[in-house]
Amino acid sequence: MSVMQTPEGRIDIRQLSIVLGQGREAFEAVRELDCQIEPGQFVCILGPSGCGKSTLLGALAGHLSAHAGSLKVDGAAVSGPSPQRGMVFQHHTLFPWRTVRENVAFGLKMRGIGKVERHCAADEILQLVGLEGFAERWPDQLSGGMQQRVEIARVLVNRPRLLLMDEPFGALDALTRLNMQELLLDIWTRIRTTVVFVTHDIDEALFLADRLLVMSARPGRIIEDLRLDFARPRTSELVTSPEFSRLKRHCLDLLRHDNDRPLPRLNPLGLPPENPLPRFAL
Ligand SMILES: Nc1ncnc2c1ncn2[C@@H]1O[C@H](COP(=O)(O)OP(=O)(O)O)[C@@H](O)[C@H]1O
Ligand SMILES: [Mg+2]
Repeated sequence: MSVMQTPEGRIDIRQLSIVLGQGREAFEAVRELDCQIEPGQFVCILGPSGCGKSTLLGALAGHLSAHAGSLKVDGAAVSGPSPQRGMVFQHHTLFPWRTVRENVAFGLKMRGIGKVERHCAADEILQLVGLEGFAERWPDQLSGGMQQRVEIARVLVNRPRLLLMDEPFGALDALTRLNMQELLLDIWTRIRTTVVFVTHDIDEALFLADRLLVMSARPGRIIEDLRLDFARPRTSELVTSPEFSRLKRHCLDLLRHDNDRPLPRLNPLGLPPENPLPRFAL
C-alpha cells in the first residue's frame, strides 16, 4: 500500500500548566511544560503513574483546557476535540452492536460521508491493520489485540494529524503486546502521522520512539528529551543491544532519582499542599 499523506501534525506547547479538580481540591497536574514536536515524529512520553501523562494527552485531544500557557497544533490553538486528533485508550471504545466495518466507518458517517465511500475507506484501513476478512465480525468476536487494531483503524480512517495513544497495549499479554508494537510501527511507516504515545514501560518507549520525553512525578514536567536513532525497521533484537540497555539504565535512573525528590509543600498557585503520591513501582 502506498504511503498515505496526512496534513502536517506539528505540536507547539509553551509554558503549559493544567489544573485539575475544583476549589480547594484543585491542583496542578502539569506544570510549565515546553515542547515542540515535528510533523510525522513518533514521540513516546514516559513517566511514573500519576505524573500527568493522560492529562497532557487529554489537552492535546482537546478534552482539557490549559490553565496557563498555550498548546497549538499546526499553528492553531487547540480549543476542543477534533477527528484530526484521534485518541486510542487502553480499553477499546467500539460499539458492540455495530460490525467491525461499521465501527471503523462511524466517524465518516458522522461527517456525512456516503455509505459506499465510507465502507470503502474502512476496508482500506482494515487491510492496513491486518484485519481484512474481519469487517463483518462483531467486536466481541475478536481477541483483545484485534479489538485494539480496530480501535486504531477507527481513528486512522479520519486521516488524523495526531494519533494520541494512552497506554494502548497496557491490557494485552506480553506476546500480543510485542506484536502490536511491531504492527504499529509498520502502520506508521505507511501513514506518516505524528504519534504521541504514552507509556510507563521503558522497553516499549525505547523500542517505538524517535524521541522520548521523560516526565517527572506530579506536577509533571519534562526532565529528559532523548533522540533515539536506532535503525528502522526495528526488530526484537534491538532490546538486547548494549545501547538499548544503556538507555534503559539511564531512564530507570531518571525515574528513580525523580522519585527521591521531596514533594513540593505549596505549589506556585498557592493551592493546598498535595497529598502523598503513589510511587513509581519498579
Ligand atoms: N478528574 C480528576 N480530578 C482530580 N484528580 C485527577 C483527575 N484526573 C486525574 N487526577 C489526578 O491527576 C494526576 C495526574 O493524572 P494522570 O494525568 O491521569 O496521570 P498519568 O496518566 O501520568 O498516570 C493523578 O495524580 C491523578 O490521580
Ligand atoms: Mg494515564
